[in-house]
Amino acid sequence: MLACALAILRGMTVLVTGGAGYIGSHVARLLLERGSKVVIADDLSTGIPSRVENLEHVALDLAAHDAVETIRSIIRAHSVDSVIHLAARKKVGESVDLPEWYYKQNIGGLANLLEAMKAENVNRLVFSSSAATYGMPDVAACSEDMICQPINPYGETKLVGEWLARAAGRAWGLRVVNLRYFNVAGAGWDDLADTAVANLIPIAFAALKAGKAPIVFGGDYPTADGSCVRDYVHVHDLADAHLSALEYLGRDERKFDTFNVGTGQGSSVFEVLDEIRRVTGINFDKVVEPRRAGDPPSLCADVSRINSELGWHAKKNLAEIVESAWAAIS
Ligand code: WQD
Repeated sequence: MLACALAILRGMTVLVTGGAGYIGSHVARLLLERGSKVVIADDLSTGIPSRVENLEHVALDLAAHDAVETIRSIIRAHSVDSVIHLAARKKVGESVDLPEWYYKQNIGGLANLLEAMKAENVNRLVFSSSAATYGMPDVAACSEDMICQPINPYGETKLVGEWLARAAGRAWGLRVVNLRYFNVAGAGWDDLADTAVANLIPIAFAALKAGKAPIVFGGDYPTADGSCVRDYVHVHDLADAHLSALEYLGRDERKFDTFNVGTGQGSSVFEVLDEIRRVTGINFDKVVEPRRAGDPPSLCADVSRINSELGWHAKKNLAEIVESAWAAIS
């Protein structure tokens, strides 16, 4: 990172909402490593207390009725000048069953946060968005200007969150960067493993540790090997993208507010499982079951914008993602 960018980070105090989560804890630790001050707001409903040990942490549900005042007091007490907002509900299936709760939590929480930021004159926000905003696009790589058609309430709340932040920008000058995460995995530090068994790599590891073979949801997709293709990005690279976004918010000339965060390279489920065989040394069987509803055959990022505008590139590949994820739970 350029010396001037590092200098900017060193002078910052950043509120990280969701900082006890898998991704949020990586963002918080990298900010501290680069010299920023950090305060975390997390209700610990899914976050892990050990991830915020010895850090400034306030237990807070951003969607609570009194959250605005609590956030304002955090901002004043710590002289917060920027916010990275990751706190949200993110289970796709749960969002289908509980759409009202997802909108209250994800959009209500963001609305409270923005109200508090406006009241305290804090106008820099990095918003954790998602590739789920794209839905099931029929393209080799998603670009940020594509029409977004999310296919579940979780993805809808991420897109609506982007719209809300943009409206705040027009209304009172909020500076926002929306980061659309593709498939995040790996561990930047061994104590920050993804412990939520909710995505392919941790699910596969959990199956192996239980003496079972991982299950592939569908082997008959119109892809090279018949299994779904995704863009897997290392969580440490993703955390670094948040710091690049903070630096970008300091620029007065900013052409865009939304950036994909991925590698630009796709990996199939079969390829991920081959990597898991190599890393674990467990030669498990290939078990293919019917397709899972709502899975697009391929979802990969066009990363040209974040590469050129923020100067950010993913540094770690699939092998490093799988190796670091396995090391963190072994
Ligand atoms: C990846 C691929 C599965 C488990 C979700 C969210 C997205 C983002 C990342 C937050 C798919 C296949 C999985 C298994 C399998 N989250 N799979 N066997 O669905 O691409 O994206 O998490 O922003 O918003 O939608 O991730 O890890 O669930 O699945 O075959 O046991 O692995 O079918 O093709 P997904 P995933």
